[in-house]
Amino acid sequence: MSSAAALSPKIRSALAPGSLGDWPTPLESAPGLAAACGAAALWLKREDRSSPRCGGNKVRGLEFLLGPAPPDVVFLTAGGTGSSHCLLTAVHAGALGARTVLAQFPQPDTDASRAVAAASAARAALVVRARSPAGLPLALLQAWRAARRMGPVRWIPPGGAHPRAVVGHLLAGLELESQLPDLPDAIVTPLGTGGTAAGLGLAVAALSWPTRIVGVRVAPRLIANRWRTTRLARRAALLLARHGIRLPLPASRFPLAVVEGLGVGYGHPTPLGEAARRLAAPHGLVLDPTYGAKAFAAVPELARRGFRRIVFWHTFALPGGE
Ligand SMILES: Cc1ncc(COP(=O)(O)O)c(C=O)c1O
Repeated sequence: MSSAAALSPKIRSALAPGSLGDWPTPLESAPGLAAACGAAALWLKREDRSSPRCGGNKVRGLEFLLGPAPPDVVFLTAGGTGSSHCLLTAVHAGALGARTVLAQFPQPDTDASRAVAAASAARAALVVRARSPAGLPLALLQAWRAARRMGPVRWIPPGGAHPRAVVGHLLAGLELESQLPDLPDAIVTPLGTGGTAAGLGLAVAALSWPTRIVGVRVAPRLIANRWRTTRLARRAALLLARHGIRLPLPASRFPLAVVEGLGVGYGHPTPLGEAARRLAAPHGLVLDPTYGAKAFAAVPELARRGFRRIVFWHTFALPGGE
């Protein structure tokens, strides 16, 4: 048995996550799109298909964050109105019989953000909306007070950026070992709150792969940065070490390169991102403007710089789109 194949069940039995998703998510080869990007090979890791209930990368972390909890627990989390993390928390907590309260700030109106906002409002017990991102702390206070009146509150950090959730993304990365025919040069993912890239960095380190994780920054630098992501990874590795699971952490630098993709702000489409959407669409890859489009824009550029075999982490699922 390979190292990764042995590691995953060990991690699951030590941390006892809940069961919310269908694993492994598919890995699809996309030769036509690879050629269009100038890459030798391109694979799409379909994290958007993680659950028929509502998919996306955040299901990975929620398996480790939602349970075990008291029966009347109220989950409280925060994010933009188009936050998949907020929506997926409400959907998957609801499937476990729990309620969710959301504090949200407005983000630019796109088809995707509108669909996620409407689905979140329908699935959460309560949404407290700030008028602007600066108003989020006050909205959060109001949301917390309301949640407390409903039952015992469990806080989930924005984006689910918690060491336990990072372990979920580590398991996602380990799935690649049995799915890929060749070692990839790069794994490209949107970089928001950092948990996804942190888990993928731990996975390639555990596999002793020379692969670079390319995190395309789609949120402000204060949130999406190399320091926070590396710290999350180290805290996840410490958590596993406390359960007797020692990961071979990279001796030198954490294998993450952060690439700029934000544009004027979180959730604002960029010209490069929109061009990436137009490039991907004829090949059947539907990208959202906030995460997928901005991240995919890095793929042709990486190919130009000599990265030949690339995995693209496809993280966004439109609610009701499966
Ligand atoms: C669809 C989608 N993709 C990617 C990300 C970025 O993941 P992370 O926050 O783990 O960096 C998010 C974060 O909210 C997301 O919702």
